[in-house]
Amino acid sequence: MLAARPPMGWNSWNTFGENITEELIFQIADVMDAEGYKSSGYEYLVIDDCWSLKERDKDGNLVPDPKKFPSGMKAVADYVHQKGLKFGIYSCAGVMTCAGYPSSYDHEFQDARLFAEWGVDFLKYDFCNFPKNADCRNRYHIMSMALKASGRPILFSACNWGEEESWNWMRSIGAHMYRSTGDIFDNYRSFLNIFQSQLEHFCQSAPYCYNDIDMLTVGMYNQGNVAIGKPCTDSEYRMQFSLWCLAGVPLMMGADLRNIKPEMRELLTNKELISIDQDRECRPPFLVNKDFVYVEHEDKENATEPLRRLDDQLFTFIKHLSDNEFVIAFYNLFEEERDITCIFADVGLPFSSGYGFSMKDIFTGEELGVKRDYFTAAVLGHDCRLYRCRLVNCNDGGN
Ligand code: GLA
Repeated sequence: MLAARPPMGWNSWNTFGENITEELIFQIADVMDAEGYKSSGYEYLVIDDCWSLKERDKDGNLVPDPKKFPSGMKAVADYVHQKGLKFGIYSCAGVMTCAGYPSSYDHEFQDARLFAEWGVDFLKYDFCNFPKNADCRNRYHIMSMALKASGRPILFSACNWGEEESWNWMRSIGAHMYRSTGDIFDNYRSFLNIFQSQLEHFCQSAPYCYNDIDMLTVGMYNQGNVAIGKPCTDSEYRMQFSLWCLAGVPLMMGADLRNIKPEMRELLTNKELISIDQDRECRPPFLVNKDFVYVEHEDKENATEPLRRLDDQLFTFIKHLSDNEFVIAFYNLFEEERDITCIFADVGLPFSSGYGFSMKDIFTGEELGVKRDYFTAAVLGHDCRLYRCRLVNCNDGGN
């Protein structure tokens, strides 16, 4: 069964763009295997756009660029498989990929068969150059069927950026994940804006078909292909990674894992956070704050397009996990440190219930004991604090 949990892996686009080679893919596979990513759950190694020649061959088949992939795609897939990983590739529902390479419009069944022959396990399917009069839902459905007909289990990662409210129908046409937003850029506003734009839609993201809010930029520090605006700080990357985990969305890394800062490797392989992302009930976070206000603005320094963003403020989320556990998460969008309080009555646990939360700090591992009524944390500017909580009956003397 594919995508029983949110898929995890690495994708070449954010750092490398068109600068991809088999050498790079082999090295990334080695690092994923040797440096704890595979054992943390990162499974798919995905080559994004720009892997093929600009023309199909005489039989109409896609051809890997021999300068970039001299050994051919089957050999690349074999190498990735030998490392115990799964191999992903990219195509597009339009008549050309976003970078101008041939894509699968009207070649869906032929391409899916070729991908299956190579040993592909994952297909990212983009939306550029889509004919104006074509039917988006139908074209994604065709590729979904083509993958099923290919005879190989291939995870279908649809990427139409939320067009036609993809959260309402992608599950029904067989997609395993669906990109629901435009592209992420490696800055603070970009990832916050993306997360916030999908808050209302996460309830439709569930096992076997997930809302995909794009590849992570954690650890990139503006090295690479999606560098726009101010690079993120370590704490901003903590916010990004933990927001993705709270949302229970696919975790596709985008940094150059060969040269990543150790703190960022630790963050990406944080067992507590990954277990929150992978929780089997896959419930989205509930926003406890009630004053959720969008402010239109144009941030010329940090974005390519006008953004809708929240005015600076404080966020509290609660996420229900399986086995009666919870996460309480605080995000401080101010520049300066602020106290954030969660009043337990606001998350369904009034004092009169007689219950409290036994709390553990997810980043420090510190056990905080049983709290009743409310909990306050001092949260640094542009930072977050997350707590794993267990329900405790305080009248039982249960600690
Ligand atoms: C689109 C997608 C990106 C990436 C590029 C490749 O912009 O949204 O994730 O795949 O195309 O050209």
